[in-house]
Amino acid sequence: MTMDKKKYDEALADFSISDEELQQIAADFEAEMQAGLSGKDATLRMLRSYAALPTGKEIGDFLALDFGGTNVRVLHILLHGNGRYEVVKKTAKPLTEPGVYDYICAEATAEEMFDFLAELIDETIDSVRSTTFLLGHTFSFPSMQTDLYNARLITWTKEFATQGVEGQVVNDLLKEALARRGARNVIPVAVINDTVATLLAAAYKKPNAYIGSIYATGQNTCYFEEFADGSEPPTVINMESGGFGKLRPTKYDERIDETSEKPGAQRMEKMVSGRYLGEIYGHALADILGRDKPFSFTSIDLSAIVADAYLDRHEAAAILEKKTGEKFNALELNLLQNLAGVIIARSARFVAATFAGIVRHRANGAAIKEQHIAIDGSVYEKMPLVAENLKKALDALLGDDAAKIHIFLENTGSALGAALAAAVSAAR
Ligand code: BGC
Repeated sequence: MTMDKKKYDEALADFSISDEELQQIAADFEAEMQAGLSGKDATLRMLRSYAALPTGKEIGDFLALDFGGTNVRVLHILLHGNGRYEVVKKTAKPLTEPGVYDYICAEATAEEMFDFLAELIDETIDSVRSTTFLLGHTFSFPSMQTDLYNARLITWTKEFATQGVEGQVVNDLLKEALARRGARNVIPVAVINDTVATLLAAAYKKPNAYIGSIYATGQNTCYFEEFADGSEPPTVINMESGGFGKLRPTKYDERIDETSEKPGAQRMEKMVSGRYLGEIYGHALADILGRDKPFSFTSIDLSAIVADAYLDRHEAAAILEKKTGEKFNALELNLLQNLAGVIIARSARFVAATFAGIVRHRANGAAIKEQHIAIDGSVYEKMPLVAENLKKALDALLGDDAAKIHIFLENTGSALGAALAAAVSAAR
């Protein structure tokens, strides 16, 4: 095995982000937020959600559709108020089953995809037709909204490619599919992004929650914007922060972007989210080992490589051998584990910088207040090194103020938030 140590050192240096660079990123992010909010050219879309924070008084019986990754879930939820709720029934299915069906590839149509969603909804209500069900929809893609119902998909992300959905009002597509199934008693009333759902769920349960984030297959953050100048009514803003375009890419990030479904788009997401972290490693490793083609690592492989705490690193060795066909000695295994750790740490540090930018924007020059940041997603929840690096980076960025920022895992958000949005919409 020939490992190019010079290339390795270069890659490691390139993936490392100093505290100074981090501060600059936080400042750039804050500036982009401001530009995006005022309609100037910016890489943050700053989409209005038309959702307010819940009051805690939301009660009733709702359906929640959680559609945003490869797994779709439908929940029948009873809201009891003050953060309390009950799941009556839950169904879930993947949008793609290798060799059987695939609703997210470029050959799939909107009709096929939404018929599949309608079928899952119908299964959740046991095909009952005599009751009316109001449905909240967590749709986790950039959408232009004109109110809580009307959300038009701007563009697919996360390598989704289904035809006929971009540019459409997604709840209209859903309504049509429900009608085709004869389930007109299910009425979609609200659409929110998953970040917004996470924030609504957090605010239903905790005081001072103003920032909601997803750190999973995709990565994105929303926050409650109060429009201090009174120019607009306060609302939650879906920033589509995965589109942030002011980060310094390595040559491996450039390659991933070039070969992705949407080159030029979602530049931050392609550097930090679970959909891409394994790929980044695969590109870097191929370069270090002198191969033309990237190796296919997933973020689960990456987690397993860094989690291996055995002295001989035999678990990491097995994954690396399977993917590259190479055997590595103990020293090399250490280096390769280290490389995986640095790629993960970079991701967490970038995300932390965006949080610091939002916290400062919200403080608007005044003192930073005690607050909660709600995060949902497998990368935050399960990937080793992520939570600790996020915390460490926030300490470096915010100094003493970091103690006022309480990050917590809100992993019921996507469904609970959708039910809350439906409740709010029904009460209007
Ligand atoms: C989408 C966002 C979403 C995020 C997390 C991104 O690819 O553009 O709308 O919030 O993934 O699911």
